[in-house]
Amino acid sequence: MSHPLIIAFDGPAASGKGTLASVIAADYGLPFLDTGLLYRAAGYLADVEGIDPAQAAARITPELLADEALRGRVAGERASQVAALPAVRAALKQFQIDFAYQPSGAVLDGRDIGTVIAPDATVKLFVTATPEIRANRRWKQLVKSNPGLTFEDVLSDIRIRDERDSSRSSAPLEKAGDALLLDTSDLGIEAAIAAARSLVKDRCGDI
Ligand code: CDP
Repeated sequence: MSHPLIIAFDGPAASGKGTLASVIAADYGLPFLDTGLLYRAAGYLADVEGIDPAQAAARITPELLADEALRGRVAGERASQVAALPAVRAALKQFQIDFAYQPSGAVLDGRDIGTVIAPDATVKLFVTATPEIRANRRWKQLVKSNPGLTFEDVLSDIRIRDERDSSRSSAPLEKAGDALLLDTSDLGIEAAIAAARSLVKDRCGDI
């Protein structure tokens, strides 16, 4: 079956997948969806409104997705909790499939893009790094707005989230069999971008 150019980035928290995905989307002039934001929005709205997370998932608006509150540590943890609920995943699934298969093509990043949302994506990258390296990256981002936060706090968050995301029964975080592995543990941002560009180019050709 022929379909548009779909580039799927999956991987654990703070692996660099979001940054890489947005760069590749700009390279190829493709629309980009950070699917983690959808789960963050569902968890946040459920708490603020006191409603069921699956109902909240059906009421996400573009304005909510732009809310800075979704970027914080609490929203990430809450997202991972609601993301384990099959009803939440079901409520968000069709929107992501429609985004992936739009005629222009698309880039998406998340946990289950290459396994569930777009299993026949043109190219799939599974981006990872050690928990310590990922925690250090995330700590540097979060400590700016939360000066009391320690590296150990963030490492503990990351380990809990990895475990929950990988062990849930509904669309667990796992590398698709045909995904290309990109370990960014020893790569700075520029080197990681160069590696991602090279892997994508091998599959998709020049821009
Ligand atoms: O940026 P970070 O990797 O910390 O988080 P995120 O990508 O915004 O995702 C937050 C949480 O949403 C993850 O820990 C997953 O539990 C969940 N998620 C998911 O289950 N499936 C996706 N496609 C994207 C995110």
